Amino acid sequence: MIPFCYVVFTLAVGLAEATSKQPSPSMIYLRMKKKKKKLMLSKNNKMKKNSKMQKKKNNNITNNMASSGNDGRMLDITLVSMSGNEISEGTWPGHCKAYELFQAAYRSKPGFLCKLLHGSEELDPQSDLQSLHKDLGHLTVVWMAGVVQVVGSARAFAAVKSDGSVITWGHSDSGGNSSLVEHQLQEGVVQVVGSSWAFAAVKSDGSVFTWGHSDPGGDSSLVEHQLQEGVGQVVGNTGAFAAVKSDGSVITWGYAAEGGDSALVEHQFQEGVVQVVGNIRAFAAVKSDRSVITWGDVASGGDSSRVEHHLQEGVVQVVGNDLAFAAVKSDGSVITWGHSDSGGDGSLVEHRLQEGVVQVVGNTGAFAAVKSDGFVITWGDAAEGGDSSLVEHQLQEGVVQVVGSARAFAAVKSDGSVITWGHCYDGGDSSLVEHRLQEGVVQVVGNSWAFAAVKSAATAPALNIDS
Ligand SMILES: *[C@@H]1O[C@H](CO)[C@@H](O)[C@H](O)[C@H]1NC(C)=O
Ligand SMILES: *[C@@H]1O[C@H](CO)[C@@H](O)[C@H](O)[C@H]1NC(C)=O
Repeated sequence: MIPFCYVVFTLAVGLAEATSKQPSPSMIYLRMKKKKKKLMLSKNNKMKKNSKMQKKKNNNITNNMASSGNDGRMLDITLVSMSGNEISEGTWPGHCKAYELFQAAYRSKPGFLCKLLHGSEELDPQSDLQSLHKDLGHLTVVWMAGVVQVVGSARAFAAVKSDGSVITWGHSDSGGNSSLVEHQLQEGVVQVVGSSWAFAAVKSDGSVFTWGHSDPGGDSSLVEHQLQEGVGQVVGNTGAFAAVKSDGSVITWGYAAEGGDSALVEHQFQEGVVQVVGNIRAFAAVKSDRSVITWGDVASGGDSSRVEHHLQEGVVQVVGNDLAFAAVKSDGSVITWGHSDSGGDGSLVEHRLQEGVVQVVGNTGAFAAVKSDGFVITWGDAAEGGDSSLVEHQLQEGVVQVVGSARAFAAVKSDGSVITWGHCYDGGDSSLVEHRLQEGVVQVVGNSWAFAAVKSAATAPALNIDS
């Protein structure tokens, strides 16, 4: 096993009994510290008594990676369960990804999936530990129960269960038959990602296994040796996959034309990649120096040479719709590339995308940008929400969130009202429920064809805008 980060941690499972109340995380932490001390004192006496438990407690896992750890900052982190049990404690270099903490948690309860909470905030496995709050001392581990994830491909489904096993059903050409990797899907799977025709399972040891239609990604044998360990993120598009490894390199497989072949940019992503974003035929990788690399179908954003000079630095977010990409930069400007009809050419609104953008959302063929003053700008396919002129006067201020369906958008405003635009079949027309979308909405969720608005407790519980 080649570890990803220099990590020293002590597993301390079963140190404390569950508490009936839900104490605050800091109380848990303090209590844990005390209990641990107490336990350490009596440990010598009990040493021989319960060798199995003792083994677990002292499971001293030391992972050494020869040349890492040049980031000075070290973080002392304790993982505690909701019930107060200390799960793991250790010192982690700041350059580690939060993903490493998930692995520590998985090791304490093999085969079970979890979420990590810092206060009430859920930790993203891809986030850098050094970007976390300075006084990060402990994280709460929430173990998951039942089926924790269901993923669909074009004609099949895969479900990840809380014991880390995967079940699949549907058309075998789309990944419905996983019998070839069955033995790999019995335990330890933490995430399944789909392309249209295949699935990829990421396991807690950082390995990846694929199945489904072989050419569009179901067969990863050509890169198999690179997918044995260290994978932290896998992204699928229609016919290809990209895996980001914890050393910052990227591995691709699947249809060459859709990004499965990344030979042209390979030299640029041997290291430093922190995130990969896909649209349906291309990929974009954001590097730690905030530059962006693209590959895959040229017309769909795989070629970003037109805006290359804007993508050398300062990119904080990349968003894809089906055939184009948009990058938000740290100065609040937005850069677009890809299929021009789908929003890859933002020149019509370019003057409004120079600054102040805080969020960009893509649907199938259009983009919407929210500015810090609550102003919304749209571009791309007019019929899919790229043209918002009908509701323009309502999108001049106060918008706090924009959500996309396949061909429409919905904006939630700070007064709790909702504005929709785009294709009427996909939720763009909300006139039938307009009177109920005047106030009290706290969240809007979209699927491909519709939106649902959640209103605050004082009003209706939930509401279909369109079906
Ligand atoms: C834990 O592992 C490290 C590195 O291998 C070693 O130096 C240390 O003595 C070990 N501690 C215990 C308690 O086994
Ligand atoms: C699934 O695939 C395996 C191996 O290719 C095959 O033997 C089996 O019959 C398939 N099952 C179904 C239900 O198609």
